[in-house]
Amino acid sequence: MDVRVDYECSGVDWTTVAETLKCVGMAYDAPDVHRRAFEASHTTVFVYLADRLIGFGRAISDGVKQAAVYDVAVLPEFQRQGIGTTIIRKILGRLPQCNVILYASPGKEAFYTTLGFRKMKTGMAIFTKATAMRERGFTE
Ligand SMILES: CC(C)(COP(=O)(O)OP(=O)(O)OC[C@H]1O[C@@H](n2cnc3c(N)ncnc32)[C@H](O)[C@@H]1OP(=O)(O)O)[C@@H](O)C(=O)NCCC(=O)NCCS
Repeated sequence: MDVRVDYECSGVDWTTVAETLKCVGMAYDAPDVHRRAFEASHTTVFVYLADRLIGFGRAISDGVKQAAVYDVAVLPEFQRQGIGTTIIRKILGRLPQCNVILYASPGKEAFYTTLGFRKMKTGMAIFTKATAMRERGFTE
C-alpha cells in the first residue's frame, strides 16, 4: 500500500482523529483536546492514503532519556497491513536514546511484543478516570 507518513500536525483534521479513536474503541475527546495533546507531543506520526488519514500515533518525551507512546490507532479497514508497525517504528526512530513505555489496550499486547516491547513488572499509574480504566482491564 502506497501510504505517506507525515510528522506535522498542521493540516490534520482533528475531528477525524477523535472519530478514529472512537471507532477503534479508544478513549476520545473533543477534537480540540486531541489537537492540543498532539501539538504538545515530542513526536507525532500521521499516515495518509492519498489524502485520507488512516492511522496515527504520538509520543511525549524529554527527547533525551524518557518517552511514552499514546494514541496509536489504525482505521479498522487498514489494520493488519503493517501501518501500526510503521507508526511505532517512525516514533522510535525519533527517540533513539530513550527508554520508551506505553500501556497497551487489553488484548493488543501482541502487537507491541512483535515490535520488541516487554511487559513491565512494576508499571503503575494514576488515571483521572480510575474506575473506567479498572473496568476496562487496564489496572487491578
Ligand atoms: C493495535 C493497532 C495499532 C495495530 O495496527 P496494525 O496496523 O493493525 O498492526 P500491524 O499490521 O503493523 O501488525 C503487526 C503485527 O502485530 C501483531 N498484531 C497486530 N494487531 C494484532 C491484534 N489485534 N492481535 C494480535 N496481534 C496483533 C501481529 O503479529 C501483526 O502481524 P501479522 O498481521 O503479520 O500477524 C491497530 O490494530 C489498532 O488501531 N487497534 C485499535 C486501537 C488500539 O488498540 N491501539 C493500541 C492502543 S495501545
